[in-house]
Amino acid sequence: MPKPNAASPSSTDLTLTRWFPGGWQDHELLDSGDGSRLERFGDLVLIRPEPKAIWDRGMTESEWRRLAAAQFVPTGRTKGHWEPYQSVPDSWEIRYPISSDQNLHFSLEFTRFKHVGVFPEQAANWQWIADRLKPGKRMLNLFAYTGGASLAARSTGADVTHVDAIKQVVTWTRINMELSGMEGIRWCVEDALRFVERELKRGNQYDMLVMDPPSWGLGPKGEKWKLEEKLGQLIRSAAQIVAPGGSVVMNTYSGLSPSSLENFWRAALPDARIEAGELCLHSGTGQVLPTGSLVRVVRP
Ligand SMILES: C[S@@+](CC[C@H](N)C(=O)[O-])C[C@H]1O[C@@H](n2cnc3c(N)ncnc32)[C@H](O)[C@@H]1O
Repeated sequence: MPKPNAASPSSTDLTLTRWFPGGWQDHELLDSGDGSRLERFGDLVLIRPEPKAIWDRGMTESEWRRLAAAQFVPTGRTKGHWEPYQSVPDSWEIRYPISSDQNLHFSLEFTRFKHVGVFPEQAANWQWIADRLKPGKRMLNLFAYTGGASLAARSTGADVTHVDAIKQVVTWTRINMELSGMEGIRWCVEDALRFVERELKRGNQYDMLVMDPPSWGLGPKGEKWKLEEKLGQLIRSAAQIVAPGGSVVMNTYSGLSPSSLENFWRAALPDARIEAGELCLHSGTGQVLPTGSLVRVVRP
């Protein structure tokens, strides 16, 4: 019997990891703090709200204003508008080198939700995904947004299925695919949970499953997605469509801790190798900005 206050055995299985993206030339977090982030997307430097950045900024506010081409000004809990400080284009393009001879291209624009069409920290996953795929392997990207992970997977020649609830977002990804000189991604405008449960019934399995569920969302037929109510159901079903030897990358920006994500996956796939931690960005002034919680799961 262990003593009541005995420390738990240390194990690498229980270590939390911090993942940072490498390889970006077209993105840079210049500074963060005072509830905001200052970052460069290609030639444009933008200021966006960042509730996690509660520390002091590294540069002065006037330095931020001097560098920034535009700032997102929130007008509600999720929406707002962009205030340009210089002349800015309606859309522009950035690239991420996924290999020595292939770039992923992203068309960016100023949305009403503070985003511009790419989550740059996800590049840490794109590389991991690409390293594990090859022609003939099957990848499923759920809650897939503008498709960074889908493009990374497709760049290896793997079969890729991209699922998102919003048709315009899927159209945006198709543009990114074409700009990247690729073709052949399978598009599904569908509720992610509904899609997984259908695949489970059909007996379809995937070698790589990527998902990034938000705190809340709506499927195209009004299906309500609420993370704390549906996450268990999603993970239990998703675990059954991971092929033997397959992998899962699950991220969330919802504020759920990495340990909570890990608990769900340990219950769903007890024999799997699981790494849990935070997806982070280095800022040019020395801070580490945690962006989301992440687990990587590898099925034996
Ligand atoms: C945080 S974004 C994912 C970002 C993505 N990991 C990336 O790197 O580009 C969440 C996405 O989930 C989609 N979504 C929300 N509710 C959904 C649902 N019920 N079924 C499918 N997709 C949904 C949204 O349209 C949005 O594109």
